[in-house]
Amino acid sequence: MKALILVGGFGTRLRPLTLSWPKPLVEFCNKAIILHQIEALVKAGVKDIVLAVNYRPEVMVSVLKKTEEELGITITFSVENEPLDTAGPLALARDILGKDDSPFFVLNADVTCTYPFEAFRDFHLAHGCEGSIMVTKVAEPSNYGVVVTKPGTTIIDRFVEKPVEFVGNRINAGIYIFHPKVLDRIELRPTSIEKEVFPAIVADGQLHSYDLQGFWMDVGQPKDYIAGTCLYLSHLTATHSSLLSDPTKNKWVYGGNVLVDPTAEVDPTAVLGPNVVIGAGVKIGAGVRLQRCIILSNAVVRDHAWVANSIVGWNSNVGRWTRVENITVLGDDVTIKDELYVNGASVLPHKSISTSITEPRIVM
Ligand code: GDD
Ligand code: MG
Repeated sequence: MKALILVGGFGTRLRPLTLSWPKPLVEFCNKAIILHQIEALVKAGVKDIVLAVNYRPEVMVSVLKKTEEELGITITFSVENEPLDTAGPLALARDILGKDDSPFFVLNADVTCTYPFEAFRDFHLAHGCEGSIMVTKVAEPSNYGVVVTKPGTTIIDRFVEKPVEFVGNRINAGIYIFHPKVLDRIELRPTSIEKEVFPAIVADGQLHSYDLQGFWMDVGQPKDYIAGTCLYLSHLTATHSSLLSDPTKNKWVYGGNVLVDPTAEVDPTAVLGPNVVIGAGVKIGAGVRLQRCIILSNAVVRDHAWVANSIVGWNSNVGRWTRVENITVLGDDVTIKDELYVNGASVLPHKSISTSITEPRIVM
């Protein structure tokens, strides 16, 4: 089977992290976002993966070369000369996606869930129509594509992208599967799958919805990336995953949902949790208190610092007795000096902060 991942643009909403590293390679729970997706696709029998990008993908190519070999798959970079939006990339990859009659998956690169691709494929093959969309429920649907089905069926009656008025609360999870004949509907030009292609397939009664069970989140911006991390960690807890730190063996775990890379060093007097991810090579000092936060690889959190609801970027340094909170995001190699307060700051890479930031702002 085949799949295309819409890797897209510059990840501006996940700045400052994406100033240093392409969004799909930013670690989510200690693994590149895109690797979660690739591994799940491979588990469902996908051998051919197209990554649709609209920038020069050198870094990604070199990182994913290894993945290709390890997993025994083919990863093709399909590079757009101009951004082709969410449907145009399918036309650009027509040779691969349409090479046989088997269906292909399409994924937005910034969504996390349990990726039940096998069940989704079975559902799609059972109804035999042109396409299927995974849907999930959210409380605030206006930022998403809303799906309305014909009563008592899975056939989609309406697809409304980013509705201004309330249409429903079942939304497009950004995961699709199509029969290759969908390619006949898509020309090689910038085209929105949500605004142009879906309404056309809906009009022909050929698009079905599949209800996703379990958690889902678009992790394309810091607040949602943190929320998505908590959902993923809770899922690991619910499935008794051995990846999580065992509170009976690690006294510093408080409240559970704590994921620590084996190469990290945590002082036994620190208190971590609930909902904490510690990356490779991270050092956590004495008396440190962390909750609902992500510390990316090789960062250092010094003695008695307090970090909550925040992301500490790679190689960054949080000073002694410093307090960091309220969706603060530190880019790569940021230093926050001792005894400061940082409230909701977004700090660009390589900055050194020596006075408190008391109100949310971008520090350049
Ligand atoms: N290759 C390529 N080229 N990819 C693109 C382009 C492009 O020109 N434009 C966007 N993408 C990719 C993005 O990188 C992302 O993976 C995906 O397409 C969706 O774009 P977003 O910018 O993240 O869209 P959104 O989050 O506002 O809305 C989409 O996702 C929601 C679920 O998270 C829509 O599909 C909604 O309907 C959906 O509910
Ligand atoms: Mg998105």
